Amino acid sequence: MKFIALIVSIFSLFSLLDAHPAGGHDPELIAAQRVKELHRKYVKTVEGILKHRKTGCTLKTVRRRKEWNSLTKREKLDYINSVHCLAKLPYQTPLSLVPGVRNRYDDFTASHALRTPFVHQNGIFLAYHRHYNHLFETALRTECNLKGTLPYWDWTLGWQDVNKNHLFDGSPTSLGSNGLFIPNRTHFISVNPLGKVLDRSPGTGGGCVYSGPFTPDKWIVHLGPFTDPKGPNDGWGYNPRCLDRDLLKDFGTYTRPSNITHVLDNCQDLACASPYIQESGNGVHSAGHIQTGGIMLDVLASPSDPVFWPHHAMVDKIWTMWQFIGGADEYVARTREVWGTATRYNIPPSPNVTLDSPVDMGGIIGPTRRLGELGSTIDDDYCYIYE
Ligand SMILES: *[C@@H]1O[C@H](CO)[C@@H](O)[C@H](O)[C@H]1NC(C)=O
Ligand SMILES: *[C@@H]1O[C@H](CO)[C@@H](O)[C@H](O)[C@H]1NC(C)=O
Ligand SMILES: *[C@@H]1O[C@H](CO)[C@@H](O)[C@H](O)[C@H]1NC(C)=O
Repeated sequence: MKFIALIVSIFSLFSLLDAHPAGGHDPELIAAQRVKELHRKYVKTVEGILKHRKTGCTLKTVRRRKEWNSLTKREKLDYINSVHCLAKLPYQTPLSLVPGVRNRYDDFTASHALRTPFVHQNGIFLAYHRHYNHLFETALRTECNLKGTLPYWDWTLGWQDVNKNHLFDGSPTSLGSNGLFIPNRTHFISVNPLGKVLDRSPGTGGGCVYSGPFTPDKWIVHLGPFTDPKGPNDGWGYNPRCLDRDLLKDFGTYTRPSNITHVLDNCQDLACASPYIQESGNGVHSAGHIQTGGIMLDVLASPSDPVFWPHHAMVDKIWTMWQFIGGADEYVARTREVWGTATRYNIPPSPNVTLDSPVDMGGIIGPTRRLGELGSTIDDDYCYIYE
């Protein structure tokens, strides 16, 4: 009986393959293949450049950032443990500046909250968040003995339903579960300065993360909410509470493989790529926040969720791939290209950014840098590749 069932299932597998040669005509399967191809091209270009180097960032020293689900158990625990370690170290932020900080992890959340109005939907966004992630990774490595690198969350791999991603399966090697389900909630509605409305239905959680390494007995959020109803001191005060999440598959439609190929194949300049990646609501960046829900919807406090970093590593990966897929000749131009102004949606209008434009990190986690120093992932402070 079992044998017959096996034959039948093998047979149906073959007919399935037959009906969809090389992925068939599903545009997302085709796009996923294309993303893989471009990824190989990117890796080949970077390795080709590094191969010839004897100093600075070389093939020997380059650090490899991996997708969360392809980390080994040990690597996942290494990352999780180092994040917990950071939250046990003392804060360095003056309480007169941000009264709610209680640990070193909060220094990072606080600096993002301070910089939020100046580093989103503008020409600073990509570089700021690249550097922000880098400083976090450096803190994990130097202060908390992380052996690996910052992982990334490739949302395209499970874009159909974020609920099924092992990143959130609540096991000891996940970044924690969904939030506990809370019924009968109302929609989350926000309006951006351009008048664009974001209407998010309630997801499958809504409450505290209930299993895995970031449950309330193991992980306490201190800052925020910065959205109404705000926490003490408008969100800057001490407000200990659980990490909440509310997974929602709807916005997976904006993190499909085809959204990545759109940037990589169609955008010839940063004026096309940068706003597409950032765009609030349906851009890949926002869509990762919106799929996670909970504190990831509170822009200022969103780094309180440890998935913030792998999410932003994926955002950085798209920019990085775009910079390198043109080959070794184009990479110099694309890593030195800037776009946009320093004000959000250019409101109020401000001058275009240049390679000399300052990227203020909030003064707590690191000094101000220039845009021109943050363009290439294999030069200056950086030496990493997305595997
Ligand atoms: C949720 O809404 C349903 C239907 O409107 C209602 O029957 C139920 O009592 C509500 N539950 C709570 C906890 O308010
Ligand atoms: C991403 O792809 C989906 C499906 O093709 C599309 O509806 C959506 O508009 C895309 N997002 C952007 C920002 O173009
Ligand atoms: C600013 O950049 C845009 C392209 O993104 C360009 O059209 C415009 O002329 C620039 N403005 C100035 C003053 O250089």
